[in-house]
Parts: sequence; C-alpha cells; structure tokens
Amino acid sequence: MSDSLEIPKHIAIIMDGNGRWAQQRHMPRKLGHYRGAARVRSLIEYCTRVGVECVTLFAFSTENWQRPAEEVDALMALFIEYLDKELPAMLENRVRFKAIGALDRFSPEVRDRIRRAEQQSASNDGLFLNVAVNYGGRWDILHAVQSWQAAHPNAALSELSQDVLSEYLSTAGQPELDLLIRTGGESRISNFLIWQAAYAELYFTDILWPDFDEAALQAAFDWFSARDRRFGKVKASI
Ligand code: IPE
Ligand code: IPE
Ligand code: MG
Repeated sequence: MSDSLEIPKHIAIIMDGNGRWAQQRHMPRKLGHYRGAARVRSLIEYCTRVGVECVTLFAFSTENWQRPAEEVDALMALFIEYLDKELPAMLENRVRFKAIGALDRFSPEVRDRIRRAEQQSASNDGLFLNVAVNYGGRWDILHAVQSWQAAHPNAALSELSQDVLSEYLSTAGQPELDLLIRTGGESRISNFLIWQAAYAELYFTDILWPDFDEAALQAAFDWFSARDRRFGKVKASI
C-alpha cells in the first residue's frame, strides 16, 4: 500500500450476502452467517494496522426480526458465540468494543454479556469496534432525541442543535463516518447509519460478505483515497 493513501478514520460495513453465499453452495443460510463472522477478526486487525480509528459493523437490523424464527435464533446465538470467542483477541488487540442498537429487546442475560464485554474493553486505547445489533438508523435518531429530552426535561426542542443531537447518537464521541461499504451487490443503506452517512463515501461491491477479504478491503480503501471530498465546497484537493 502506498504512503500517500488517505485512510478513512471511521468505516462502516453492511455485511450483506451471507445467505446467498451459502445458498450458492447448497448449504443452510446459517452457515453463511458463520463464515461471514469468521471474516471479521482479520479485517479488524487490518484496519488497526493501517490506522483506521473506528469500525462499525451491521450485524442485525431492526427489520431482520422479520426473518424466519430459525434464522433469527441462529443469528442471536452466533452473536453471543462471537462475543465469547472474540473477546480475548479484542482485548489483546486493544479494541474498544461497543454494541449499538436497541438492546432492550434482548434478554437480561445477553445484555449482561454485552455490558461485560464493553466494560472489559473500555479502558483499551485501540480501535473502536461498534457492532450494530437490533440497530436502525431511524431508531438511532429517535432515541437520540428522546435521550436528549430526558436529560433536559425543561428545555425547549428548539434548543436542540445538530451538534448536540450527534452527542446522543450511538456513535457519540467517535470520528465522523468517512466510508460506508456494502457487500452483496445491493445499492441501498437499509436503515443503517442514516444520520452519520450524510457525507460518507458510499462503496458498493458485488462480493458476498464471506468472500470479502483483506484485498477487497484494500480495494475499497484505494477507491476511497481517490475521492475528492468537497463537502459542498468547490474543491477539496488541489
Ligand atoms: C447479511 O446477510 C447478514 C444479515 C442480514 C444478518 P444476508 O442474510 O442478508 O444475506 P443475503 O442478502 O440473504 O444473501
Ligand atoms: C442489511 O442487510 C442488514 C445487515 C447486513 C445486518 P439486509 O439483507 O437485511 O438488507 P435488505 O433486506 O437487503 O435491504
Ligand atoms: Mg441481505
């Protein structure tokens, strides 16, 4: 990788295509999810190596509850298994783990495990890893407004600004989203980080998530590096 590459500070990934990956191989969809989860660790390590500060992964959307119960159950079991299995590596790599989403939908036991992983990694000084579970961008915005209101019961809504609202989103205190990647061939955001993606570069690839390797991530970074991010101005780079 050349030195002149612009590395995004915050990347988000819609890890799509697990089901099709499995179906193409006449395997149950669940297996695609397992193969997809197995991709994550090396990509996180790659991000740490090249200097990405924050990675947000879409693991389960507020809409994914509408899938067959068997698949939902498998995804939940996988998430817990992933947490248990990956926590030691995360701690070793100094990753700061956070689950983002409406966690109240989960059992107290699952919430407890999430909190423990967050607490154990909270004092790390490495990459921020947000795993979005039962996450929706619309939920995030509404939840931020409600949280702000709860913290300021006597304030008028007109006092709420964009900067203040950002401090109540799931990504509060983290760098602005620079690059949003979606694997699996679809060109949509599917209710992911809709507020945060306002000025993100959007990268869509046909690669199915279980096949998305370091070379594929590097290709996305190369593409990002070639963008001229004008932010509404006339020219960002000369
Ligand atoms: C993404 O893969 C993982 C989740 C949504 C949980 P999919 O399961 O959506 O895979 P496809 O899109 O059906 O191939
Ligand atoms: C988005 O993928 C959600 C995750 C990757 C977790 P979906 O497969 O659920 O999105 P749609 O249904 O194609 O929009
Ligand atoms: Mg999908």
